[in-house]
Amino acid sequence: MVTSAAEVGSGPWDALTSEHDYRVEEVTGAVPDGLRGVLYRIGPGRLEIGGHRLGHIFDGDGMVSRFAIDDDGIGFRNRYVRTRHFNKASQDWIGRGIGTLRPGGLAANIFRMPANVSNTNVVAHAGGLFSLWEGGRPYRLDPETLATLGREDFDGALKLLGAFSAHPKIDARTGEMFNFGIEVFPRPMIRCYRRDRSGTLTQLATFPVSRPSFCHDFAITERYLVFLVDPIVVGRPISALLGLDSIDNCLTFNADLGTRVALIPRDGGKARILETDALFHFHANNAYEEPGGDVVVEIVSHDPGEGWLGWNQHVRDYETEDGTAFGGRLERIRITASGRVHREPLLEGLGCEFPQIDHRFETAEHPATYVAAASVPAGAPDSIVAVDHAAGGVGTYTVAAGHRAQRLRAAVRRRPGPVRSRCRVAAVGGTRCVASTFAPAGARHRASGRRSGGDRGTAAPPADGLSRHLCPGVSQAMAG
Ligand SMILES: [Fe+2]
Repeated sequence: MVTSAAEVGSGPWDALTSEHDYRVEEVTGAVPDGLRGVLYRIGPGRLEIGGHRLGHIFDGDGMVSRFAIDDDGIGFRNRYVRTRHFNKASQDWIGRGIGTLRPGGLAANIFRMPANVSNTNVVAHAGGLFSLWEGGRPYRLDPETLATLGREDFDGALKLLGAFSAHPKIDARTGEMFNFGIEVFPRPMIRCYRRDRSGTLTQLATFPVSRPSFCHDFAITERYLVFLVDPIVVGRPISALLGLDSIDNCLTFNADLGTRVALIPRDGGKARILETDALFHFHANNAYEEPGGDVVVEIVSHDPGEGWLGWNQHVRDYETEDGTAFGGRLERIRITASGRVHREPLLEGLGCEFPQIDHRFETAEHPATYVAAASVPAGAPDSIVAVDHAAGGVGTYTVAAGHRAQRLRAAVRRRPGPVRSRCRVAAVGGTRCVASTFAPAGARHRASGRRSGGDRGTAAPPADGLSRHLCPGVSQAMAG
């Protein structure tokens, strides 16, 4: 049990190095009736090692939080993923990260790959729970205790570095999980995987990319894996390899290369590869096919005006500036049957990130999208915005001062009928990840918090996701 503020720290970026198990005794609001299950969340839990501040929020050791909701209330548990880096860093050893160089100059960094800190996402599938980091293998966790059970190669199916993206997609109809990994050797390519509902992982396909590229997310339809590979490429590979500069500083956005669109058949057929004007994005929301043969994919895109380095600097300056990173634009990309690519904005005038849907609609046209947003340009993410595609409305819920909006997660209600109450779990013992959001599917909530002037009131957000302490890039899985 956390017993003092000093143990937690005073700011959202202070490390929580301790691990806890306790029942939550303070709940603000009410847990919706019938909501039962487990919410897992993950993010970098410590951004300092032995007094040395890490250079990037992507480099902190992954810490998983578990919120178990049962008839008696909520149980909380947090554990760090026992990666190789975590175990060594606990003795003040600093690994090379995406944006962190090891102390010691060239000799300490040359030919050294970034450490797998397993901090980017957590996914529950086929009875297993895995923490993810896109440059390397997942770690298997005990779903109950959060104990680290080891690095996972899925019975040898993951080869070499075992890159396995942090945003796998699960088809709710079939129970299959799809994912990909970026490989650089012997040539740059993306390798696609399918894990069936029994837990067997197989390689689905590979497709080439022109240069080592940063591809963070994808989407699935009933027949395809849909990739938009933007031209965020390694512009200074020698510097990266020799450790003369951090990996993130060696990336560049090269608009001249354009964005590669890849439709990879789920049944192993021939891929469709297209080129289009350069996009700059990180997260995909969902994709689906229309009767006429068009493929539609929804993403949050960013203004490429500052390029990668400009955008990334806002993330590097995480302690003083985090708003611009949320300044994305929700938009729909249509890939026509004839091979044209069209863009259509879905949410104007409001920067956002972390798009989410009710995941039962994965691969199908979804009725609504939920995003974390900043209510003022370049401001902190302080709002949850629901875009009602079916009715055409937008609902905005702005969280209380001092809180930050985060990624939502839809929870399916077992019993029929909408859940109309809101859930806000706040100040859970003062841990670093203190709040979680449950968004019962199909619910039409009347959010009672402070609203922005842009609220048209037709699709109020399903629940408020509030966190006094922001866990950067926090992601979560819902089970139960
Ligand atoms: Fe992400």
